[in-house]
Amino acid sequence: MLRKPTRCPPSADEGFLAGANGPGQAHPEHYFSASPSAPSEPTLVSVNLPGLAFSLLSDRGVFSGRRVDPGTMALLEQAPAPPAEGDLLDLGCGYGPVACTLAKKSPAATVWAVDVNSRALQLAKENAKRLCLPNVRVAHPEAVPATIRFAAVWSNPPVRVGKQALQQMLSYWLSRLSDHASAWLVISRHLGGDSLASWLTGQGWSVRRAASKSGYRVIEVHRP
Ligand SMILES: C[S@@+](CC[C@H](N)C(=O)[O-])C[C@H]1O[C@@H](n2cnc3c(N)ncnc32)[C@H](O)[C@@H]1O
Repeated sequence: MLRKPTRCPPSADEGFLAGANGPGQAHPEHYFSASPSAPSEPTLVSVNLPGLAFSLLSDRGVFSGRRVDPGTMALLEQAPAPPAEGDLLDLGCGYGPVACTLAKKSPAATVWAVDVNSRALQLAKENAKRLCLPNVRVAHPEAVPATIRFAAVWSNPPVRVGKQALQQMLSYWLSRLSDHASAWLVISRHLGGDSLASWLTGQGWSVRRAASKSGYRVIEVHRP
């Protein structure tokens, strides 16, 4: 894996591997594989938001390894600023574009970055370290203390795991929202964004379409 000594602060990622080629051909393996077998081919991807730009180490064998996914960008652009404090959850963190954004925007919050893909977890850990974000806790879902209630959940959820697994996952983590907290989810309309929103409503959640951009729905979910 490509590494660069961390210098904190200021911008730890400045100039690192600029112009590097992206990962090679798409691998048939699922992005949620626990241990991706695709050979490692590290690269850098950029996150460019108003007032916030940084790069992240990515690789093959993780979701959208060549560039930050447009759905993820829609979430980062359209959702409001995260709570300044408390425990925040990035559910399905991949290499960490959401978790690192939340951690940069809310340095006094603790951002839990969870995933089941070991390569994604390693990359997210590495990225938090490179970007000097000590408030990011990268963890397998089962390692998150059960007592934690989240002040916000952000997720580009793994729709490809299948409807039932997705619903179970969301039911579990949404139930861990604190009383007045919201979850911000992005889902492609073509991958069932609207039907997921209807299902959540049917489960008793208040669901609001916060934005619709380039075929992606950004929805806010909270207790009624
Ligand atoms: C659509 S990707 C989003 C990744 C990252 N947030 C991004 O925007 O690039 C969904 C992620 O959820 C992860 N995932 C799959 N099943 C999961 C589970 N049960 N718990 C947590 N994460 C899971 C996948 O490995 C994948 O990294």
